[in-house]
Amino acid sequence: MIKIAVVGSSSMDLVVTSAKRPIAGETVLGDSFITVPGGKGANQAVAAARLGAEVTMIGCVGDDFYGEIILENLKKNHVNTKCVEPVTGAMSGTAHITLSEGDNSIIVVKGANDFITPEYVQKAKKIIEESDIVMVQQEIPEETVLYLAELCEKLQKRLLLNPAPARKISEAVIQQSSFITPNEHEFEILFGGRDRTEVLTEYPNKLFITEGKNGVRYFDGHEEKVVPSFVVEAVDTTGAGDTFNAALAVAVAEGKSFDDCLLFANRAASISVTKLGAQGGMPTREEVERSFEE
Ligand code: RIB
Ligand code: NA
Repeated sequence: MIKIAVVGSSSMDLVVTSAKRPIAGETVLGDSFITVPGGKGANQAVAAARLGAEVTMIGCVGDDFYGEIILENLKKNHVNTKCVEPVTGAMSGTAHITLSEGDNSIIVVKGANDFITPEYVQKAKKIIEESDIVMVQQEIPEETVLYLAELCEKLQKRLLLNPAPARKISEAVIQQSSFITPNEHEFEILFGGRDRTEVLTEYPNKLFITEGKNGVRYFDGHEEKVVPSFVVEAVDTTGAGDTFNAALAVAVAEGKSFDDCLLFANRAASISVTKLGAQGGMPTREEVERSFEE
């Protein structure tokens, strides 16, 4: 079994579905409301566990009711939570999600996720040392991502950086990460204005640009390739990126070729969008494998 450490956020997703998205100053009547566990870190941890990895999450929750649910959900999904601590007096992270007009819009309030500091991660150094690959996203303090990238380089651990939500990152972090997975918007923020092909060529087998329905673009050292995605009836695309990243990490750690890794990751992501909620629809290993036979 491969071992994955995820350093990242866990949140409660408060999801409203509505035919119409209100504009500024407007009130509309929605259709439904659900609360489900989310947060990019926890989503990636759960997705990787369902795909058969031994996953340890390094994160923080609030000392509130949401925190209890988040922890329970991670455990139910066989994610090791010994490095997820409730923070006294803090609220759990929340994501306020509107599903409307075929797309989502999200406001994230970091809450306890802001307590995932470099010092906090340092306490879990042993877990990182023992893992095959480390995953991180950007719903945690920026200095923690800096610290983790440095630590992974020192320990010679592969780091998969999912630069979401978008923010600028330092050249050092780009160099120290083994894999970076921006979508097109995040790519623009990271490499502002630069020619896509030129940037891809600089980072062979490292930079994977996710282009939604169009697939994933990367440079394999010889040529630029687009690995296609799979067309499905999408119910909720929230968490599709997390599923993609987790599946990519699992496949890379298992030593698959990059083309196979990306096909596997695209499959997993496409299955995840067929159900409501970020983690609803995240497939098991068996479901992904079965989908290749259909
Ligand atoms: O990537 C999807 C996640 O981003 C959601 O679960 C929500 O928590 C937001 O942070
Ligand atoms: Na889903």
